[in-house]
Amino acid sequence: MIDTEDDNLIERYEAETGKKAIWRGNKTKAFLDWKRNREKSISKITSTQQKGGGKKVYTDDVIKDRMGQYGAVYFPSDIQETIDDILGNEIKKEVLHDFFKALKKYDEFTKQLKGAKLNPSLTVLLYGPPGTGKTSLTRGFAKEYSIPICVVETDRLVSPLLGDTIKKIRNVVELAEEIANDRGSFILFFDEIDAIGSERSNIHEVGEIKRAVISFLQVIDRVNYKGVPLAIFGATNHQHQLDSAIWRRFTFHFSFEFPDYRLRKRILESFLKKLENAKIGVDNSIYVNLNNEYETVRGIHMSLENKLGQTISEFDNNLLWNEVNKKNKEKGMLNLTYGYSGSDIERGTKVAVLKAINTERLTYELFYNSLMLVGGTAIHVERQDELSEARNLNQFRKSTMNDKRKKLTPPEI
Ligand SMILES: Nc1ncnc2c1ncn2[C@@H]1O[C@H](COP(=O)(O)OP(=O)(O)O)[C@@H](O)[C@H]1O
Ligand SMILES: [Mg+2]
Repeated sequence: MIDTEDDNLIERYEAETGKKAIWRGNKTKAFLDWKRNREKSISKITSTQQKGGGKKVYTDDVIKDRMGQYGAVYFPSDIQETIDDILGNEIKKEVLHDFFKALKKYDEFTKQLKGAKLNPSLTVLLYGPPGTGKTSLTRGFAKEYSIPICVVETDRLVSPLLGDTIKKIRNVVELAEEIANDRGSFILFFDEIDAIGSERSNIHEVGEIKRAVISFLQVIDRVNYKGVPLAIFGATNHQHQLDSAIWRRFTFHFSFEFPDYRLRKRILESFLKKLENAKIGVDNSIYVNLNNEYETVRGIHMSLENKLGQTISEFDNNLLWNEVNKKNKEKGMLNLTYGYSGSDIERGTKVAVLKAINTERLTYELFYNSLMLVGGTAIHVERQDELSEARNLNQFRKSTMNDKRKKLTPPEI
C-alpha cells in the first residue's frame, strides 16, 4: 500500500530524478534512500534552529551571505524607492496594500482561511514591458512594510543539467522558507520567471522543460500548503511565452503597461522636480510647453471620443496622434515619448542632467533632445516580436526543406 503522505514526495522524487518511485506496487530502494536523506537534512536544519534558543538564526548578514548566491538581497533600509515614486497603478497599489497587511499578520490570516478550508497563497505575477515599474514597485512595498526581499535572477537558476536546475529551484525556496519562518516574513521575487519553462529557456528538450516546471510548481504548492509567511512574486516581460501552469499557480496577476500621455506628463514632471530638489535649474518653459501640449492633446482626445461615441486609448491604432499631428506641426514631449516606459523617461532625464552640468541649466531643447536620444522601449519590444516571428518562420522553412520527416513539435505544456 502506498500511503497518501508520500504522494507529494513521490511526485517530487520523480520530477527531480526522472526515475520512477514505485516499481510493481512497491517503493523503490532508491526512493526510500532519497527520502531518508531528505529527512536527515531537514532535522539538521531544525536542530540548528533550536540550538539558537529562540535567537534568530537568520541575521541580516547570514541572509545576505546565503541568499546572495541567488540574487540581490535588499533590507528595508537599503531600499531607495518608495511606493509613491512609481506613479499611476493605483488599483494595483490598493490590492498590494491588502496583500502585505495579510503577510504581516500572517498567523491570524491563515487561521481564518483554514477555517474556510482555503490554503493561503501569497503569490503574485507581474507582467508587462520592461521598465514599467514591476521590480521597483515591489521593492517599494518591501520597504513600506519593512520586509526583506531577494530579487532572484531566474535564469541563473537554469542550467543545462536538469538535475541542477531542479536542485537550485528547491534550494532557493527552502532557504526563503526558513528565513520567512525565522524572521516573520520574507519576499522571494523571481525576475524573468519565464526563464523557467518557456521556449526561451536554456533547457532545450521539451520533457526537461516540463520537469523543471513541475518541480517549480511543486515547490510553490508546498509553501502554500504549509503556511509559511513567504510571499512569492514572479515577473516577466514575456507573458505570452510563460507556461500556463505557472501562470495559474499565482493568485494575483497584475498587468503593467506603457504609461499613457496623462501618466507620462506626471512622470516627466516628477523627474523634473527631483532635479530641482538636487538644485539643478529647470527652465520654466519646459513646464509651460508640457502643459500646453497636454491641454491640446486632451482637447483633441475628448472631441474624438465624442465624435466616435466611445472611449479610445492613446494606443488604439494611432487615432489620437494622427489627429494631433494633423493640427500641429511641432512635435511635443508627450508625442515624442509615446511608447516610452517610465524607465526610458528616467534614462532621458539622466542624459539631460549630464548635459545640464555643462550649461548649468536644463532648457526645453536640451531635455527634449535627451529624451529623443534614449528612445522608447515599445519600438524594441515590437521589433523583437517581429524578429522572433521571422526567426521561427525561417526555422520552420529550413526544417521543412531539409528534413521533411522531422516535424516541429510545440511544447507539450
Ligand atoms: N509608473 C512609473 N512612475 C515613475 N517612474 C517609473 C514608472 N515606471 C517605471 N519608472 C522608473 O523606471 C525605473 C525602472 O523600473 P523597473 O521597476 O525596473 O521596471 P521593470 O521591473 O518593470 O522592468 C523605476 O525605478 C522608475 O524610476
Ligand atoms: Mg524588473
